Amino acid sequence: MNEVRVAIVGMGIGRPNGRAIASDPRGRVVALCDLVEERMREFSVELPEPPKLYTDYREMCRDPEIDAVFVGTPNQWHVPVALEAVKNDKHVMVTKPLADSEDAARHLVEAAEAAGVVNMMSLSTRFADPVRYLGRLIDDGEFGDLYYARARSVRRSGIPDWNLGFIQAGGGAFRDMGVHVLDAAWWLLGQPRPVSVAGVAGARFGPYGKGYWHFHEPAPEFYSQYAADDYAGGFIRFEGGLGLQVESFWASHQPGEVQIELFGTQAGARLRPLTLYRTVSGAPQDVTVELPEGAKPWDHIAAHFIECILDGAECHAPLRHGLIVQEMMEALLKSAETGREVNLE
Ligand SMILES: NC(=O)c1ccc[n+]([C@@H]2O[C@H](COP(=O)([O-])OP(=O)(O)OC[C@H]3O[C@@H](n4cnc5c(N)ncnc54)[C@H](O)[C@@H]3O)[C@@H](O)[C@H]2O)c1
Repeated sequence: MNEVRVAIVGMGIGRPNGRAIASDPRGRVVALCDLVEERMREFSVELPEPPKLYTDYREMCRDPEIDAVFVGTPNQWHVPVALEAVKNDKHVMVTKPLADSEDAARHLVEAAEAAGVVNMMSLSTRFADPVRYLGRLIDDGEFGDLYYARARSVRRSGIPDWNLGFIQAGGGAFRDMGVHVLDAAWWLLGQPRPVSVAGVAGARFGPYGKGYWHFHEPAPEFYSQYAADDYAGGFIRFEGGLGLQVESFWASHQPGEVQIELFGTQAGARLRPLTLYRTVSGAPQDVTVELPEGAKPWDHIAAHFIECILDGAECHAPLRHGLIVQEMMEALLKSAETGREVNLE
């Protein structure tokens, strides 16, 4: 096999992922799947070859001319679609978050690992150039020992109102946005084992029709179905005494921000603007790093998925990482519900 024939499910985030796969010299997008045919037809004209169109993912997964499936449906459909792909021996890549619950995430990971297929998360923050750059510095020992991090994702008015799945059980701000910075910070810390989580979460805007994308006020029939968090914040303790403070707000009276801060014994860093903090000859040295315009995260994600399938490369973002991140998210939400710290040991 010298090329990978990929099917894309879900015509929202499926589009940038599909474009990147189609523009990789060894990637082809041979099929699309969505409940809305019009969305598939719109996207198919962007592709170098006409794909097959499916409205039923089960039928699509039985197609022997498909090697791999990208899953970009609302959260609640990630596991059913990915499981069907795995059952049919397809390699699978899933957008964030892995699932809408920890049990579903675990079930999928066990099935994918047992099937022996390449299984990968599509993580646009972890695969973005500034995060990859910090990862390389960490590997080179720039920071000494990393012992603490802060990660936050804050919007002023950014509750998604383009599909109901975001605001129903299994959706919510933390699984939608917090997951990006949580995953990237945990990855930068060296993927330590989480041991306990304490947090708070709630909904202060969404159920009242406030805080939606660009201050748009949706119809009451939409926002009356609100059943998720619109903010979450907490603290994760890891093995070895490492700590991570994480926050996620879909709406707030604060400026919008996506930030990760790293604390190390030799240096620290901040993601936006990308800055390194050192002490040189007893004086502070702050260096703002300008990275050249590079490839988009989607290009790195597609290239890595393809090299894992064709070259047997070790996957740096397996679904198991998605499961561990899901465990931390669900523990934080459970801690918020029970008012107690959740022990993960
Ligand atoms: N940066 C990122 O990585 C990123 C950004 C945005 C969204 N996402 C993730 O992508 C997922 C979808 O979000 P979105 O903003 O693209 O939503 P969207 O509503 O724009 O797109 C979802 C599509 O999935 C289709 N769909 C729903 N159920 C389906 C099913 N059973 N079979 C086939 N198609 C189905 C819908 O018709 C829709 O076209 C979410 O899980 C979200 O977390 C990731």
